[in-house]
Amino acid sequence: MPAQRPTLPDGIAAQHGHIAAQIRVLRLAVDDQAGDVRLRSLLADLFEDVRSHFAYEEAAMEIGGYPRLKAHRSEHAAFMHRLETLREESLMSDTELMPVLAALLETWFRNHEGSWDKEAAEFLRIAG
Ligand SMILES: [Fe+2]
Ligand SMILES: [Fe+2]
Repeated sequence: MPAQRPTLPDGIAAQHGHIAAQIRVLRLAVDDQAGDVRLRSLLADLFEDVRSHFAYEEAAMEIGGYPRLKAHRSEHAAFMHRLETLREESLMSDTELMPVLAALLETWFRNHEGSWDKEAAEFLRIAG
């Protein structure tokens, strides 16, 4: 029986921590040249959790009347697109670009959290 993976927690900040940890695990696996099966499994989990997180965050912004929701949503869509590209690379067993793509994902997520998400959280906190 495969080990149960941790589920996405409730709350935006907790979800950010969870996803950042998943990206770190993925990067380490890429650096260690883990096998295709392991990489695909990590990417599938990451894909699912990021998609759930974005839906959760967008719902919170919608409920809170956040004015830049449309632009924020586009940022999320761009990230999902990158994640999809990375997944396609792994499916083609074309691992040459994997370290670069994994590093990009990590940087993107950190930057997004420190700018877009920070601004939205601030708005939602003030708006109550
Ligand atoms: Fe976001
Ligand atoms: Fe977020």
